[in-house]
Amino acid sequence: MARDTQGTPTRDATAEPTPDILSLLASDHAEVSAALDEYDDMGEDEDQASGRQELAQRICRMLTVHSTIEEEFFYPAARKAGVDPDLLDEASVEHASVKRLIKQIQESEPDDRLYDANVKVLGEYVRHHVEEEEGPLFDECRRTNMDLYGIVMPMATRRAELMQADASAGRGRGKRAGKKSTDATAPG
Ligand SMILES: [Fe+2]
Ligand SMILES: [Fe+2]
Repeated sequence: MARDTQGTPTRDATAEPTPDILSLLASDHAEVSAALDEYDDMGEDEDQASGRQELAQRICRMLTVHSTIEEEFFYPAARKAGVDPDLLDEASVEHASVKRLIKQIQESEPDDRLYDANVKVLGEYVRHHVEEEEGPLFDECRRTNMDLYGIVMPMATRRAELMQADASAGRGRGKRAGKKSTDATAPG
């Protein structure tokens, strides 16, 4: 983004508008929701098991990166801007529930009895959480004078780092085929 002589970002009328933090988070939400819909549409046949597991693992990794950048950048910035702390506390509790399910899914196999149930309940939790974020939470962020652009770059950089770490861990997992391993970006 261009800056004026005081270093303040300015808008170039001919440039594409820079997406704010809420738009970037919403596009992550749309991506993960589409993957969850895709999982729901997959059959439960035995021969689809590896495809289901691959997709479920991808969903878990997307959610892990997304929740990490929210916890490291978005929620603290919203709290600092005076967004209703109850909304942020509820969001953190919801993240904790999502992380528990992610861990169970990552540590199980598609032929485990509760595998599909875990992924489906994960989808229900995530859809509810997204509704809460894009509704009351984003509304609060717009209501306060939160800087919706200041954390875009550091958050994007951190996101790229996490994706890179995940890709490296994935290559490591490939080399250790047959052995169980932990995801470098898995929530603790
Ligand atoms: Fe989110
Ligand atoms: Fe969230």
